[in-house]
Amino acid sequence: MKSPDLSVQLAPQNSRGLRLANPVTTASGTFGYGAEYAEVIDVQRLGAIICKGITLKPRHGNPQPRLVETVGGVLNSIGMENIGVDSLIREKAPTWAGWSVPVIVNVLGQSTEEYAELARLLDGVTGVSGIEVNISCPNVSAGGMEFGASPEAAAEATDAVKANTTLPVIVKLSPNVTDIAEIACAVVEAGADALSLINTLKGMSIDLASRRPALGNTGGGLSGPAIKPIALHMVYQVAQAVEVPIMGCGGISTASDALEFIFAGASAVQVGTATFTNPRATLDILEGIKRFMEKESVHQLSEIIGAAK
Ligand SMILES: Cc1cc2nc3c(=O)[nH]c(=O)nc-3n(C[C@H](O)[C@H](O)[C@H](O)COP(=O)(O)O)c2cc1C
Repeated sequence: MKSPDLSVQLAPQNSRGLRLANPVTTASGTFGYGAEYAEVIDVQRLGAIICKGITLKPRHGNPQPRLVETVGGVLNSIGMENIGVDSLIREKAPTWAGWSVPVIVNVLGQSTEEYAELARLLDGVTGVSGIEVNISCPNVSAGGMEFGASPEAAAEATDAVKANTTLPVIVKLSPNVTDIAEIACAVVEAGADALSLINTLKGMSIDLASRRPALGNTGGGLSGPAIKPIALHMVYQVAQAVEVPIMGCGGISTASDALEFIFAGASAVQVGTATFTNPRATLDILEGIKRFMEKESVHQLSEIIGAAK
């Protein structure tokens, strides 16, 4: 059999498009700015790299501890520590410009104006192939989930980004809502080219010795295998509600996990926490998907996207 075609178009409605050679990408905040991992794995083999979330100004993040292990996952309260968009454009984008793998920049605004400004600054930067709009961060006091929890605010942030860039725009949804499909429909209506879901679920842990919250910021976001069934169900629900491509994310550690998300309706997957225990997780997943397609005589990925719908 001819080698299967794993390529996927993530922004069919966008004039620039966003073609991925395969559906395996990195979840924001778990793969740095990409270059850190280039010494560990061949990052050019990935479908795309989604970099650490970026804000207008650099941020120091939340008090330590910021990462606590839980059963089947981790709680994090990083608080969007990042270098700021100017440094990203100056120091990171030139490296990405030399790569064949597309890099998508995850952005977080504290207001609609900030989302607009981030989009404007990133538009036309060589090395940046798309924007992921983070309206779902549970670890900041302003912005993030404030936008992701209401259909109106989510649409406003999407609209602000779309109005200021021709880059493909992916909106990243929060699971900390009553009806994720309602938010999905609102951002698609506002022009999102694609959606990614889910971000982390709010949670906490208490340290028995100190009798205090284990995280410096009290609460945090839960990720890892423990959240996979929730993420999968949400992807399935959203895939019934919208027509745009979906990037599935949440607890994906193996090729079987990734295939479940693809069957549920995801055109691509993002791998996050799994990379902490296996830095090669993305490539192992990619190889596993390919083996599955060969074994099952699937010629094109599109044949199995949404198979379970
Ligand atoms: C340490 C850490 C930092 C993260 N930082 C970001 C971020 O900057 N922006 C964002 O949209 N999501 C961020 N996330 C959420 C992940 O991108 C992903 O949505 C979530 O972890 C679920 O996927 P996983 O279970 O595969 O890790 C972060 C997650 C972790 C664990």
